[in-house]
Amino acid sequence: MASHISNPAPRLRRINDAKDRHWSELMAIYEQVFRPGEKESRASLEANLSRDTTGNAGGHIVVAGIDPGGHCLGGIVFSYLRAVNCGHVSYVMVTSTARRRGLGTYLFHASKDIIHAHARAAGHAAAEGVFTELQRESRRRPETYDRSRFWARLGVTPLDIYWEYPELTPGAEPGGHVSGLRIIHIPPTLDRRCGGPSSH
Ligand SMILES: CC(C)(COP(=O)(O)OP(=O)(O)OC[C@H]1O[C@@H](n2cnc3c(N)ncnc32)[C@H](O)[C@@H]1OP(=O)(O)O)[C@@H](O)C(=O)NCCC(=O)NCCS
Repeated sequence: MASHISNPAPRLRRINDAKDRHWSELMAIYEQVFRPGEKESRASLEANLSRDTTGNAGGHIVVAGIDPGGHCLGGIVFSYLRAVNCGHVSYVMVTSTARRRGLGTYLFHASKDIIHAHARAAGHAAAEGVFTELQRESRRRPETYDRSRFWARLGVTPLDIYWEYPELTPGAEPGGHVSGLRIIHIPPTLDRRCGGPSSH
């Protein structure tokens, strides 16, 4: 795994195949950054992978950020939900050594481009918006504040709904003992464009 972002900035690439080396690297980051109650199993993610060739409607679409050395620095796992003409972000992650350089934001905007493209292919002008679930902030878990700030900067509309997340890992309480989740809606009109991630 690369320890820093070098020049030029990371390129983004779609991952359609669980045999892809970058998928394994992304899964290593996933296992590291999410606690048991916050993530599903790798097998479950892979079973629901959306592949261009199979057109797995509603399945997980994956975009990864790759550094010039060919290492995966992070990625985003999301879906286009045709029935409601919306996107849903399941996970966005960046390896700890590559954070705060804009990659997370860049990945999110890349996912929106793909979501809107799916919406247009389904006959809409654009997607209605993008949803994600967000744990309530907790002083016992400082990272929940970082997450909220990350989404706030992207222009979210918090829907303060008490919602019990399903059990993602057998035996692990949802959200690592925090069951109050906020569903956030990110309307396309609040889309704030940004440039690519900075390179250091
Ligand atoms: C949330 C996460 C994906 C953000 O990734 P990231 O690449 O650090 O995101 P960005 O760099 O786009 O933005 C993060 C911060 O860096 C700042 N930043 C971006 N580019 C910067 C730069 N060149 N110099 C200094 N700061 C910069 C942003 O303004 C932002 O500030 P904020 O903390 O006030 O929001 C990452 O922290 C992560 O993987 N966390 C663990 C998993 C997680 O919680 N995922 C979200 C829930 S699914």
